[in-house]
Amino acid sequence: MRAAGTVHSGFVIGTIDPRLYGSFVEHLGRAVYSGIYEPDHPTADKNGMRQDVIDLVREADVPIVRYPGGNFVSAYNWEDGIGPQEERPVRLDLAWHSSESNHVGIHEFADWAEAANTDMMLAVNLGSRGLDSARAFLEYVNHPGGSYWSDLRRKNGREEPWNVKMWCLGNEMDGPWQIGQKTAEEYGRIAFETAKAMRAFDKSIELVVCGSSSPKMPTYPAWEATVLDYTYDSIDYISLHMYFDNHADNTADYLAQNARLDDYIATIAGVITYTKAKKRSKKDVYISFDEWNVWYHSREADRKVLEGNDGWPHAPALLEDIYNFEDVLQVGCILNTFIRRSDVVKVGCLAQLVNVIAPIMTVPGGPAWRQTTFYPYAYASQYGRGTALNLSLDGPSYSTDFAENVSYLDVSAVVTETDGALTFFIVNRHQTEAIDLDLSLEGFGDRKVIMDKVMEGHDLRAVNGPGAETIEPRDGSGASVTDSHLVAAIAPLSYRMIRLG
Ligand code: AHR
Repeated sequence: MRAAGTVHSGFVIGTIDPRLYGSFVEHLGRAVYSGIYEPDHPTADKNGMRQDVIDLVREADVPIVRYPGGNFVSAYNWEDGIGPQEERPVRLDLAWHSSESNHVGIHEFADWAEAANTDMMLAVNLGSRGLDSARAFLEYVNHPGGSYWSDLRRKNGREEPWNVKMWCLGNEMDGPWQIGQKTAEEYGRIAFETAKAMRAFDKSIELVVCGSSSPKMPTYPAWEATVLDYTYDSIDYISLHMYFDNHADNTADYLAQNARLDDYIATIAGVITYTKAKKRSKKDVYISFDEWNVWYHSREADRKVLEGNDGWPHAPALLEDIYNFEDVLQVGCILNTFIRRSDVVKVGCLAQLVNVIAPIMTVPGGPAWRQTTFYPYAYASQYGRGTALNLSLDGPSYSTDFAENVSYLDVSAVVTETDGALTFFIVNRHQTEAIDLDLSLEGFGDRKVIMDKVMEGHDLRAVNGPGAETIEPRDGSGASVTDSHLVAAIAPLSYRMIRLG
């Protein structure tokens, strides 16, 4: 089988915002407690944060982390997480049927973010609370001093404001599972008023309004049209969320699901364009895809805790999906979609980062380890920053119930400004055949392969574990550039990253 195409240096999709490769830490399961925070752990730093986890987050080069939820935020009092740790209240977290000790709050998380070399993206509670707690939180976090909330922050040990730029106005407010779910009209109003108050404090912050929790929601996409009608000129991004599963145990269908993601993005891009025209606005609004991942392996195991049969455990194991090799291919395809739509998707958050549907796992008291999906995510963040390029590709394809002509090869291309490298991220979804890729390189001058990494040849159900990270990239072979053509044989069911210098 053969796939041939062209990539031209002038076929520009757009500049990739580095925040496209963000992630998410929620007070959920073991993400925080025994995830990022474990004061008794042998690697714990002076703040009780696990250094082995920080090292892996730095390795993945995560640009921004959304915090503190998720569903958790919709009944969260941020003030519970400030002041002396031993005086903080234990609360019942209604979203995840767990006890919250509040030993980690904004100060601890901010210190962790600094150590992990990442920015914070904070969410305010528009479920059980509203505008007033949002404006107080913003003042606490971003005001230098001389006011009630900012002076309280200083009294609590942080002199300088954190100057957090990105703020999410609630979380999944369309979902019946959300504490304080709202209709699009109700949410549009409260989001508009909250944005107005927050902007009165600081015009330069960036605000994210909630879009749909999934394209399967009955209110999608009318939700976005209504919410944007209220908020278009007051916000900067509309959020989208989507999780992927292979419950049907059908690899071909599973790996074609980024076609649905494409439709979802295109539809909301259309709603944005429509609203801009309707309002005669000069302003652009972009998509913050601030929750996405594979999520299905742990659904059954979580039922007991979520139905309340275990009482109110503190930091129970929840959403601990163990990812297999098939999920590497899926994550590779999803990231390719984001790169190809980086003209409208500016922010993305892999949900989540540690222990909860995460690329990084921990053993309490023991090692931290990389899941299979760590690699396509880390590679995209490390090597996928710069300018996204369009490429034409003509090759074999297949159809599913929901998508026609799905190319077996899923490819994205990025030119990095700093070193001029041209990077291709490639997934071959064919289950038995290698595909000979032949890409004509136009406008790039002389090029040669400077890096070639591949994940291939594994059982689709193979997984990693503590001390057993066997599913990892190795050096690829056989890729070359001849007469300005990149030629490479792409193995069946493989993930590949080829960089040209
Ligand atoms: O990421 C897990 C959960 O998924 C989040 O809390 C919620 O926003 C979504 O439904």
